[in-house]
Amino acid sequence: MCAFFTTSLLRRKSPVARVLALCARLRSARYPEYMSSTAVAARVLDGVQIAAEIKNEVAAGVQQAKAAGYTPGLAVILVGNVAASEIYVRSKVKTCAELGIHSELHTPPESVSTEELLKLVQQLNARDEIDGILIQLPLPKHVDTELLLEAVDPRKDVDGFHPINAGRLLSGAPDDQLLAPCTPAGILEVLKRSGIPTAGANAVVLGRSNIVGKPVAAMLINASATVTVCHSRTRNLPEITREADILVAAIGRAGFVHRDMVKPGAVIIDVGINRVTGEAELAQFFPPEHPEHTKRHETFARRGSTVIGDVDPSAFAVSSAYTPVPGGVGALTIAMLMSNTLKAAKMRRGK
Ligand code: GUN
Repeated sequence: MCAFFTTSLLRRKSPVARVLALCARLRSARYPEYMSSTAVAARVLDGVQIAAEIKNEVAAGVQQAKAAGYTPGLAVILVGNVAASEIYVRSKVKTCAELGIHSELHTPPESVSTEELLKLVQQLNARDEIDGILIQLPLPKHVDTELLLEAVDPRKDVDGFHPINAGRLLSGAPDDQLLAPCTPAGILEVLKRSGIPTAGANAVVLGRSNIVGKPVAAMLINASATVTVCHSRTRNLPEITREADILVAAIGRAGFVHRDMVKPGAVIIDVGINRVTGEAELAQFFPPEHPEHTKRHETFARRGSTVIGDVDPSAFAVSSAYTPVPGGVGALTIAMLMSNTLKAAKMRRGK
């Protein structure tokens, strides 16, 4: 604290000027990059734009498939009435329509049994016009999720969750011989299309989920990065994250990664999607000096919430490039699902 009370500050005449100067110093202590005229702004890795590029490529591929006599088809199974899942699934179905992919939505009630779901999966496995099967997670507690995921024909496993696809990913199978999970595949696309090298890079992955943490770690290893996976029991976490050239945050905790956990110049991939509903939390993440302060407070006033990732928004200023939330990795997940559906359709037909 003493550092803020320099003699030059105390020598100012007006008390108002003293308070203003003190505030500016406090701000620059938390956001030095925003206050400096020489700092280089971190590059925003625009997930929406990259997703649009991928969707355009998929749409062109779908037209080629149609010219060859088949239409790629996706079946989505949505069990019960989980609001977040309904939003995701609606978006998936809508994107299929935009790209010319056939889609159908199966909505069994919350009370559905594992056996009934198995029967549905087997019917979808047997239908030639269905190329991809997606079971939206999480499923109700009484349903055997593992059994169901293993029941999906690996050739139609557009989520890449089947043990056969997970195994192929781990063993480094060529890209055209497996279906990889969508969010991790989207992360690799962001890195590749943004010209961020992975070979030899120190990559640190926060989170060990089957959907993101483990598969993205495998993909980064396959892309010749040196990978460390951290989780809730990891010791000395900041020491490890500060070694990361590429930091992937996928732990599902709002603003968990603080700026002092980030190496200056690192690339941050923020996979988190966390809803902030408290005013105090909003003020903590977006104080008046934060560049997004006004926009975020307006959104909050309109909707009663705003979305942030697993990274404290003040940490992005330390990085050289980062995926924003919203508008980063989230947009890629659906684009990669579309890409996987087209890929599954082509692979099954030996194209
Ligand atoms: N729930 C959250 N993310 C996903 C996903 O990528 N696939 C499925 N099937 N369910 C999810």
